[in-house]
Order: sequence, then structure tokens, then C-alpha cells
Amino acid sequence: MSNEVLKKSIERGTASVGVVGLGYVGAPLAELACMSGFQVEGIDPYIESPPEPLSSHERFRHTRDFEGVSRCDVLVLCVPTPLTARETPDMSYVEEAVRGVAGAVASTGRGGRPLLVVLESTSYPGTTREVVLPPLERAGMKPGNDLYLAYAPERIDPGRSGHDLAEIPRVVGGIDADSGDLADAFYTRLGCAVHRASSPEVAEMSKLLENVFRAVNIALVNEMSLLCRRMGIDVWQVVEAAATKPFGFMSFKPGPGMGGHCIPVDPFYLAWRAKQYDFNPEFIELAGKINRRMPHHVLDWVAEALDSTGKSISGSRVLVIGVAYKEGVSDTRESPALKVIELLAGRGAIVSYHDSLVPSVEAGGTAYSSRELTEETLGDADCILLMTAHPDLELEMLRGSGLPLVDTRNALG
Ligand SMILES: NC(=O)c1ccc[n+]([C@@H]2O[C@H](COP(=O)([O-])OP(=O)(O)OC[C@H]3O[C@@H](n4cnc5c(N)ncnc54)[C@H](O)[C@@H]3O)[C@@H](O)[C@H]2O)c1
Repeated sequence: MSNEVLKKSIERGTASVGVVGLGYVGAPLAELACMSGFQVEGIDPYIESPPEPLSSHERFRHTRDFEGVSRCDVLVLCVPTPLTARETPDMSYVEEAVRGVAGAVASTGRGGRPLLVVLESTSYPGTTREVVLPPLERAGMKPGNDLYLAYAPERIDPGRSGHDLAEIPRVVGGIDADSGDLADAFYTRLGCAVHRASSPEVAEMSKLLENVFRAVNIALVNEMSLLCRRMGIDVWQVVEAAATKPFGFMSFKPGPGMGGHCIPVDPFYLAWRAKQYDFNPEFIELAGKINRRMPHHVLDWVAEALDSTGKSISGSRVLVIGVAYKEGVSDTRESPALKVIELLAGRGAIVSYHDSLVPSVEAGGTAYSSRELTEETLGDADCILLMTAHPDLELEMLRGSGLPLVDTRNALG
């Protein structure tokens, strides 16, 4: 099959697509590919079975090894890119996935049949060319001959409604024009508008710019909220007023810190890479510092709230509302609530929590289970700390409790 034949089969939806890694990113992508007519191979050794409705889709098959690579014309890598304990990029998942693909290619040979490989995982500029390409070349594949390679970052924002996967434009950067064309054809077939970047590095950097932009602006509004508090000004009213400007301003909300596994993590990928170029990215570091300090400020706010009833943190029962990193999701990765719970417990508070989406959680080495939000639970508390307000949260109940309340999200207005 030539590159032109591969392109046609992608455009018609008759190509076989492999999705490597079936998590938050890979599973919805695999589902969209099935719905776009592709035969889809989900390759993920670490899960028993993928989520519904994907697992029962007739065009979908889950395999726990890389044997399915031999059947694929397109492979999309959606594996994790976390940080190591030393806050440097942990490329082990990408490396392992690429090793799996290369191993399958080397053992089956593919007979020169072309393969389009797309990396979707967030990573530093250079990853596609320096981490993904070499093992595939060592397996005998040749760019421009039987290997096409591109980077196309996933840009989904979990919990944000109104932006389905296919509605978010795709940035696509190929290692050469044919790779870009094929990846463009693939995402176009999925129903996405495609923005062509001139290289994978441009596409990789654009994803990091998006996330650094968020991290920096969240840090800015968090610092504003600290200053406003000191000056006795309501920061929420300030943001609301500024947001009426029809141009040149974008509204970000203050909060108890930064969570999820993208915004707190991705800027470090760029900072790490920048240092290899003898460049110190000061905005990124400062934003990280401010956002990471927020849970400590929350502790001060709880102490102040308890003060008003003559109590101190030590020995007080603090009911934390919401431990997910943001409203509407069950994800607790990097959630500032976990840090706050750890800090409160470290200061002698008796901490419990309620989160309708998170039944149990571990914070600072201690396991906690969610409590129902009842009169009894509220009666058991000296203070309420609202960290995350899911849409189903019964705000009236909190309002009516008469307890000192720290509302880090302005959910109660
Ligand atoms: N979750 C998001 O909202 C989001 C948004 C944009 C970008 N991203 C990026 O997308 C990438 C994937 O994130 P995610 O949230 O889907 O992660 P995830 O942890 O939800 O899922 C990753 C999946 O990959 C599997 N996996 C791990 N190693 C593998 C391997 N060697 N071979 C095959 N499968 C393997 C895991 O079992 C898991 O099912 C990351 O780089 C992340 O930064 C995530």
C-alpha cells in the first residue's frame, strides 16, 4: 500500500486504527474513531477492559499486547506523561509504548505496508522526533517510505461541557509534508477542524503554551485574591467587573491551588527542556510557586474562621467539601484538597470530607471515605471548608449550617 492508498483508506474510514493507551484521552478517541467508521484496536496492557460503551462497540477490539499493531494502518499514542519524583519528565510510558510498537513491527516485518504514527501525549518540544522516531527506525521503518509520524496534542478539558472531542480544532505537525497530510486526513475523518503546524515541534510547543498560559493566569488571579483579601476587597467582584471588557481580558477564577494532571505538570516539561537550552523560564517557575503555596493560605483561612468561634485548628473537626481537583469530575490527581487535608491533619485537625463523585481518597498517607452530606455530618463539624463545588452540591444545606465556612470557590456567593 502506498502513501496515497493509505490516505484514501483513511479518508474513506476503511483503515485500521490502533489506539495505544485507553485512559481519559485514548478511550474517547477510540470511540470517536469507531463512530467514524474505522476498525479500532485498543492496545492497553494495564486495564482489564475499557469503559462502556467503547468495549461493546462492534468495530472495537481490546488487546493487552502489541500483536494488534500488525493489523493497523494508523497508530495513535495516548499514554501518560507524568513527572518523576524529581519533577522531570517521566518518558517511561511513551518509551515503553514505542518499544511495544517497534517490537511488533520488527517481528512481523509489515512487508513495507505504510504506518501513520501519531503522538497525542503532552510532552516537551522534540519528543516526537527524538523519543518516538528512533526506535521505529531501528525496527526497520523508513520515514517517507513506510513510516509517517506526526504530533497532534489532545486539548480536551475534562468536565467542561459544550466541547466534544470532535469540536476542538486539532493542531497537527508532521515530521514531513506527507506525515502532516495523513494525520490531517485522519483527524478530518474524525470530524475535527485541523490546524496544520509546520513541524511536530511547533505543535508540541503550542500545547505547552496553552497550558502554561492557564497556569500563569491562574497564578495571577490567585495572587490578586491574596492582595484583595489583605485590602478587604472582594476579588470575585473584581474579576466579574474586569470580565465585562469585551477585548483584551480573559477571566480566570481564583481558587485553592491548581490540580489535575495537566496544568500543574506540563509547565515543568517545558521548564526542564528550557534548561537544556540554558534558558530559565521565570514565568513558569513563579506561577508554579504561587499556585503551590495556595493550600497553605487555605490553612490560614481555616484558622481565621475557627478563631471567630474561639477555636483553633488543633482538635477541631473540619469537614472538607469536594476533594476532586475541579467541579464535575472525579479526578483527584494533584488536587489541592489532598494537600490541604494533609496540612490540616498535620496541625491536629480531625478531618472528614464529602464528595459525591469521590467515594474514598488518600491524603498524606491516610485513607478517608466520603461522608454523606446530612444534618448529622454537619452537626459533627466545627468548620466547613469548601474546596470543590460539584453541580449537585446542596448549597442551601451548607448555608443553613451556621458553621464557620471557608468558601475557596465562591460557590455560596
Ligand atoms: N486527561 C486529560 O484531560 C488530558 C488532556 C489533554 C492531554 N492529556 C495528555 O494525554 C496523555 C494521556 O493522558 P490520560 O489522561 O489519558 O492518561 P490516563 O492515565 O487516563 O490513561 C493512560 C492509559 O495508558 C495506558 N498505558 C500506560 N502505559 C502504556 C503502554 N506502555 N502501552 C499501552 N498503554 C499504556 C494506561 O493503562 C492507561 O489506561 C498524557 O500525556 C496527558 O498529559 C490528557
